[in-house]
Amino acid sequence: MGSADHLREIEADALGRLGAAGDLEALAILEAEVIGPGSPIMEARRGLKDVPQEDRKELGRAINEVKTSIDAAIAARRRHLAASAGEARLAAERLDITLPGRAPARGTHHLVRQVWDEVVDIFMALGYSVADGPEVETAHYNFDALNTPPTHPSRFESDTLYVDYGDDPEGVLLRTQTSPVQARYMEAHPPPVYIVSPGRTYRRDTTDATHTPVFHQMEGLAVDDHITFADLKGTLAYFANEFFGSGRQVRFQPHFFPFTEPSAEMHFSCFACDGSGCRTCGHSGWIELLGCGMVDPNVLATAGYDPAAVSGFAFGMGIDRLAMIRYGIPELRYFFDPDLRVLGQFR
Ligand code: DAH
Repeated sequence: MGSADHLREIEADALGRLGAAGDLEALAILEAEVIGPGSPIMEARRGLKDVPQEDRKELGRAINEVKTSIDAAIAARRRHLAASAGEARLAAERLDITLPGRAPARGTHHLVRQVWDEVVDIFMALGYSVADGPEVETAHYNFDALNTPPTHPSRFESDTLYVDYGDDPEGVLLRTQTSPVQARYMEAHPPPVYIVSPGRTYRRDTTDATHTPVFHQMEGLAVDDHITFADLKGTLAYFANEFFGSGRQVRFQPHFFPFTEPSAEMHFSCFACDGSGCRTCGHSGWIELLGCGMVDPNVLATAGYDPAAVSGFAFGMGIDRLAMIRYGIPELRYFFDPDLRVLGQFR
């Protein structure tokens, strides 16, 4: 007990066992066994008092050296195990941030809305503002206030969708045009008036390549002192050039609308062939764009304006039609079909 050989054995045994400790928990248990109370080295130290006086000092030093060596081995093993535990945790929690992300599907405005906004912007730049009106309208604003006679065929149930409303089934309808906004706006505002009014319109049409029961129009109205047909022509030619590209020629053909006199249909020279004739323009060189005319004095008077003091022009165009023409879209129903293979092309 306490001999130099015995101490070497204790040291070798402790160091051997510490080297085999696989993790920090096992090391803690081992630590208690190799240097805790009752461990061989502690027993050796406790036995010192029984060693003869002359050997005690040297043996005491030897015991301390072994104890220091075991302490150092424990500390070294602990550092080693702690480091590899950290590495193991990092390896387990490893995140591969080099994997390319999946892009979220990006939404976009519907093509009709894009064209709508673009047309509004063109007129806003000329000083027009946007006016709004109800889609469920009265026959008064949709027809009467627009100088449309009671017998006009557009009033027939075969053309107009009536809304069953109270005791006046003939009086409420889904507006067939954005023109009623003219009448409503003039009633509520004194001249001068410079407005555009884009919106949804409804007709009792069977769906085909160019007809759907719901579609979009944009109405325009300018009323002021001394407005002439030349103002109409200049404004709409400017619009055609802004929307379809510069170099557009315009021409006006006599037409009839109840609310304008004279009335015209405006055509512009084909933007695809510059007027020489191609598929886009049906080989005529011209494309029909919109209806227009000088506001009928009856319409001004019904709204409370003095037709002797002010004059105006009005126009109405199909927003869907503008999009179809510019992008060569053959079927109007694509706009009402949520098929992203078509609509996703217009971002
Ligand atoms: N409301 C007409 C339509 O639906 C379009 C129109 C033509 C509007 C001439 C106008 C206009 O304001 O002056 O066919």
